[in-house]
Amino acid sequence: MTSSLISSRGAPTKATTLNAKASTDFAVKLAETESLLRRAAAEFQPVTQASSLGAEDVVITHLINHLQLDIPVFVLETGALHTETLALLERTQAHSRAPINVLRPVQESVIQFVRHKGQDAIYQSIDLRKECCGIRKMEPLARALKGQRAWVTGLRQEQSSARAEVPLQDDSEVTTKGLSKFNPLAKWTWGDVWHYIAENKVDYNPLHDQFFPSIGCAPCTRAISLGEEFRAGRWWWEDETAKECGLHVKS
Ligand code: ADX
Ligand code: SF4
Repeated sequence: MTSSLISSRGAPTKATTLNAKASTDFAVKLAETESLLRRAAAEFQPVTQASSLGAEDVVITHLINHLQLDIPVFVLETGALHTETLALLERTQAHSRAPINVLRPVQESVIQFVRHKGQDAIYQSIDLRKECCGIRKMEPLARALKGQRAWVTGLRQEQSSARAEVPLQDDSEVTTKGLSKFNPLAKWTWGDVWHYIAENKVDYNPLHDQFFPSIGCAPCTRAISLGEEFRAGRWWWEDETAKECGLHVKS
C-alpha cells in the first residue's frame, strides 16, 4: 500500500475531496486577497511572487493570472525537489500568463558542499542543514529579490504557531531591506485553499494526494500521519524551533 489515502473502493482519495471546505466568510477573504494582490501590483512595482508550487502558491499564481496582474513568479529550484514538483513546474511554465522565473543554486557551491561535508550532511547537524539551505535556497533567494520592492508569499497563520501572527502586509523589513512582503492567504484555512483549487480546477502537486501537506526539498520532506501537525513532515528529525530554512526568518 502506498501512502495515498485509499477510499473504500480502493482508489486514492484526492486532496480536493478530502480537504475542500470553505469557511463561512470565504467570499470576504477572497475579495480581501484579490484587492491586496491588485494593490501590490499597482503600488509596489517591481513585485514578484515566491512559489514553491505548493497548494497555497498555485492558488496565488492562479489569481495573478486570472486578474491579469503584472506580478512575475519565481521558483527556487534547489536541485533537490521531487520529480512531481519538477513536473508541475514544467506544466506551470507552459500554461502561466505571468512569467515563471527559475533560480538555481551556484553549481560549484553545491558540489563543494557535498564533496567536503558528505551526501548525508544535512541529517548530521542543524548547522550543516542550514548551510545546505544557504547554498540551495538563501543565495538564490537574494538574487530573486534583488531590486524588488515587494514579494508575495503563501504564508498562512494556520500553518504553525510561529506563523500565527503573519499579517496580510508585512512592512517590518522595509527599512533594513527595502522590501514589503504580502501574504494574501494569511487568513485562509487549509479548507479554503482546497476549496479554491477544487472550484477553479487548479493544477496541483500530486504529492498532496499522498499526505504531503507542506512540500519542500525531497530529502527534507516526508508524508505525515493522521493527527500530526501541518509541518511535521518538514525537517522531521529536528527540534520544532529549528524548523525554518531561513526564507522567512527576520534578520
Ligand atoms: S519554508 O521556509 O518552510 O521552506 P514553506 O515551504 O512553508 O517555507 O513555504 C512558505 C512560502 O515560502 C511559500 O508559500 C512560498 O511563498 C515561499 N517558498 C518556499 N519554498 C520556495 C521555493 N522553493 N521557491 C520559491 N518560494 C518558496
Ligand atoms: Fe538542503 Fe534540505 Fe534545505 Fe533543501 S531543505 S536546501 S535539501 S537542507
